[in-house]
Order: sequence, then structure tokens, then C-alpha cells
Amino acid sequence: MRSHYCGELESGLIDREVSLCGWVHRRRDHGGVIFIDLRDRSGLVQVVFDPDRAEIFALAEQVRSEYVLAVTGRVRSRPEGTENPDLPTGEVEVLGLSLQVLNAAETPPFQLDEHGADTSEEVRLRYRYIDLRRPEMQDRLRLRSRITQTLRNFLDAEGFLDIETPILTKSTPEGARDYLVPSRVHPGEFYALPQSPQLFKQLLMMSGMDRYYQIARCFRDEDLRADRQPEFTQLDIEMSFMDEDQLTVLMEQMVRELFKSVLEVDLPDPFPRMTYAEAMRRYGSDRPDLRVPLELIDVADLMGEVEFKVFAGPAADPEGRVAALRLPKGSELTRKEIDEYTKFVGIYGAKGLAYIKVNDWNAQGREGLQSPILKFLPDSAVEGIMARTGAEDGDLVFFGADKATVVNEALGALRVKLGHDRGLLEGDWQPLWVVDFPMFEKEPHTGRWTALHHPFTAPKEDQLDSLETDPGACLSRAYDLVLNGTELGGGSIRIHREDIQRSIFRLLKISDEDANDRFGFLLNALKYGCPPHGGIAFGLDRLVMLMTGSHSIRDVMAFPKTQTASCLLTDAPSAVDEAQLKELALRIKLRA
Ligand code: AMO
Ligand code: AMP
Repeated sequence: MRSHYCGELESGLIDREVSLCGWVHRRRDHGGVIFIDLRDRSGLVQVVFDPDRAEIFALAEQVRSEYVLAVTGRVRSRPEGTENPDLPTGEVEVLGLSLQVLNAAETPPFQLDEHGADTSEEVRLRYRYIDLRRPEMQDRLRLRSRITQTLRNFLDAEGFLDIETPILTKSTPEGARDYLVPSRVHPGEFYALPQSPQLFKQLLMMSGMDRYYQIARCFRDEDLRADRQPEFTQLDIEMSFMDEDQLTVLMEQMVRELFKSVLEVDLPDPFPRMTYAEAMRRYGSDRPDLRVPLELIDVADLMGEVEFKVFAGPAADPEGRVAALRLPKGSELTRKEIDEYTKFVGIYGAKGLAYIKVNDWNAQGREGLQSPILKFLPDSAVEGIMARTGAEDGDLVFFGADKATVVNEALGALRVKLGHDRGLLEGDWQPLWVVDFPMFEKEPHTGRWTALHHPFTAPKEDQLDSLETDPGACLSRAYDLVLNGTELGGGSIRIHREDIQRSIFRLLKISDEDANDRFGFLLNALKYGCPPHGGIAFGLDRLVMLMTGSHSIRDVMAFPKTQTASCLLTDAPSAVDEAQLKELALRIKLRA
């Protein structure tokens, strides 16, 4: 049907007859001549129909936006002065010699040119097949395809096998709720959709596959955000006989090659590494955006003689934290702006946002400071704060005081917001390995230990003894790859001994009976020759999101779901027939 793609036409093809197929992007009538911008996956080209050929001219008059056409014509240069330097095919046009309407189209619900970009996301998702015709969306999906291809090539060259794992399976705990699928053959029983291929990839190591990867769909029923979807894709990887150093070196080599070949970006070699403890202390976050040059600074020890309860309380509390955040040139912030930042930290549970404006500390000392809390601070505290934060005239120092978790979340988020608002970002790409994660964290409500990564993560060798005695202090062999403040991937060296796996389950208050029921197959497999192994999973959608500069994960998935986990295109989820329920031996009785 076609000899060329629209976007391929250029002056080298002048005088050639070409056949094109595509959609009517725009039709314009100009002084008895009809111009049609014909669009396909590769781009646009202008086709001209003149009235000399009465029959096809009449047909061209009838076509409308998004009609599907087959056109034959002769390539010619555009008349002088009418070239379009913004269009790759802008030097040429096609004189239409024949025209066939392959299909008509109703008026589209939104325009596909730049005006269409303001269309609400709801309408775009409902008519996703039209939205995906927009060049912007096509570019993103094309880049996504290049990314997966480049990753596959790298892994293939490194000897990884691409192996599929089941979708109908048993629950894999990754911290979210499961999606369940009822079984017809086993009435009353359910499969779970995998939250990740975690246990299967470990079993593949026990099967001697040595190096596995899969571009795997994962399903998690959790609260959605701009970078989270209920079903998403991981680049999932597992290797045998590798320690964390070898593994992270290979993985960062892959990411570096990806950025080089797709974006022509040179990422640092090696990527910097930071312990979890240091990341929390300096940035209040285990996925710090290192483009922001601001840091949290502990000042609790300066609050010994401070009467101000807001600071003195957390300073004396072992679980509390009092931290400062210096904003260079921040004294120019208005009252209104400070109020807005106070409201912002409130989202994270902060009860206020104390600050000191450093107007003229050099000449006037204390008198040169302006702050609602200055009256509570003795000279020693003020001097300590100024020295430790390095604040200079013109700066502003914010303070957070509360439980450490609240201060970290609030000031950690404020730090990133200030970085963006005040244009402080340094460097385009700042990758970071975060290592030495704690094995466990305490659930605030129940006081129970839960696995920070997942329960199959190995503790550090030298910490086996403290597992039972001081679980909170025990570190794991987990690592996360963070890029510009986004957690791109996470993994760990796994437990490969049955006795240790059992003791971790016990610590997590999973009874032996429960462990056998849920993970018996894994515990058994560990007894039949399990190699030391470890791996990682990258959030592929997040990676594509960063690499395409998109703000929402939905913009890099062809058919994403909304914030309420529904698909507007197909109307899923939806009710099912009584007959289907009967086959499954189910009856629906909704609880209030
Ligand atoms: P984890 O749960 O950290 O690890 O997931 C790995 C990466 O997947 C991405 N991700 C998501 N992306 C979009 N939407 C979601 N709802 C979502 N949840 C996670 C993140 C994250 O870093 N089995 C382990 C990996 C391992 O240990 O090898 C796992 O799944 O980018
Ligand atoms: P108050 O005495 O409550 O009026 O607070 C005095 C100053 O301390 C105000 O600037 C508050 O925003 C700030 N503040 C109150 N609680 C906290 C807190 N937990 N952390 C940091 N600053 C706070």
C-alpha cells in the first residue's frame, strides 16, 4: 500500500512518485488549492491537491480530520518562501495524483495538535487510541521500546536468560495488598497475582539458571500516586554466586550504557554510595535528590538549656529529632511564602515551621536576627546554630522538631520543594546507591517488626547474632538505586539457608505453620542445594518516566489506570454475569 513513511520525505526524493498512508492531521483550503497534512508514525508531510484534477479534488474537499487516506503523488520542492523549517519534511510537499479514502472518522473529541495538550486526562484516557496518535505520546512509547531493547541487548550479552514466571500464583509479600483471582476448578480458592516474581526468580537460581531477567508485569493493590500504578512493569533480575559489590557494579554499568546509548548522557562512574543512616541524617529520606544542595543539620544537642517545649521535648526524646535546614539567600522569603511552606510541612505531620532570618548577624549579632523563636533561645544555642549551619547574612534557617520520622519526612520534602522553587538544582542526573538498610522497621500501631525490603533479604553476615537480641539495629544486604530523588530500583542478597529464613519468619511473627503454608515450597527448596544469590528489580515505568522527562507514570504507559485503579477506556473493573459467578461457586454479598 505504501512506498514511504510520511516523515521520510526529503529533497533527495524530488520528482519521485510515492505512495503514502496515514491520517489527516489538518486540512486547509487556500485559494482553490487544498492542503492536507498527512500524518503517520514517522511524522507529517504536506500533500497538495489542485483543481486541475477535478475528481480527486472533489474527494479531497470531503475529507476531514483523522480520515484515513492512501495517497499517491509526486514529491516536489515547496515554492520559495513557503518552506517550513520547523517540520523535518518542510522543504518538500507531495502533489496529489490519486486519493483513496480508506476510512472516514467522526470529529475527534479533542485536537491532536498543540491545542490538544490541554485536554483533560479523563477524556484522553477514555479515547486513549486517539491520544496515542499525538506525536508526543508516540515519541514516549518509541523511547520506551528503545529502552527495553537496549536493556535486553545488554543482559543478553552478559549471559542472562529471559525466563517467564507465572501470573496466576500464590501471594508474594512486597508490602501491598494482593489482587485475587477465584478458581473455578477449586471452588472457594484463589490465585494471587504476583506483586513481583521474587520467589520464582529465587527458585530459578536454585534451578541452576545462574542469571535470569524478565520484563515482568507486577500487580499491587495499593494507594496510587503520580509514580505508582496498580499494574506496572519491572526489569527483574537475579544472579547466583555474586556479592552486592559485584552485582551493583554490573547493574550500574547497565544503567550507564542505557543512558549513553539512548540519551547520550554520561552518568558518573562509579555511582556514589551512601548508607541509609547517612541519607536519613543528611536528607531526611532514603531516596534523596542529590541535585538539591541543601542538608538537614542536627541541633538537638544545642537545646539543653532551651525552655521552648517544642524544641526541648524532641531534643530529650530518643525517638525525637531537632534539625535545621539552611536556605541560602532565604531571608528574602516573604511572610506569605513562609506561611505557605509551613502549610506544606503540615501535610507531613509537622506542627509548625520555626525559622530564623539572618539579616545582619555579622555586624549586629543577635540583634541582626529575626525569628518568632529567638526569645526562647539563649546566646549559646543561637551561636551554636549559626556556627553549625554556616548561616550567612541573607540566609534563612528553618527548623523541625518532632518524632524523627515526622522531622525527616517534613524537612526532607521541604528540602526538595525549596530546591525546585528557588532554582537550586545542580546537575541533570544524580544517581545514588543507598546501602546498609535496616533489616526491620517497627509498625507504629502494633509495635510489630516488619521487613523493610522483603522477608527474603539476607542480614549482614556479622549481624546474625544480633538478629534475635536487637532486631532494630540489624542491617541487611539490601540496596536501592535512586535517581534524582526517585527510587528506580531495589534489591538484595537473599537468604540461602533454611534455618535463617525460618528465624526471620519467626521474628516477623509468622508462625511455623503459617510459614509452611505460605512459603513451604521455598523453605523446602532451600534444603536441596541453594546457591548464594541476589538480585534487583527496576521500576521500568519510572525509568522511562525520568528518561522522557514525563511528570506522570501514566504518560509512559499505553493503557494506564486512573488514581482509582480503573480503566476509563474499557470500564474495568466491572460487574460480571450471574452465570460466571455461578461457575465459580461465588455469590456477591457486599458488606456495608
Ligand atoms: P520493590 O518493591 O522495591 O522490589 O520494587 C522494585 C521497583 O519497582 C518500582 N515500583 C513501582 N512502580 C510503579 N508502580 C508501583 N506501584 C510500583 N511499586 C514498585 C519501583 C521499585 O524500586 N522483588 C523486589 C526486588 C528484588 O528484591 O529483587 C521488589 O519488587 O521503582
Ligand atoms: P508557637 O509557640 O506554637 O507559636 O510556635 C512558635 C514557632 O515555632 C512558630 O514559627 C511555629 O511555626 C514553630 N513551631 C511550632 N511547632 C514546631 C515544630 N514541631 N517544629 C518546628 N517548628 C515549630
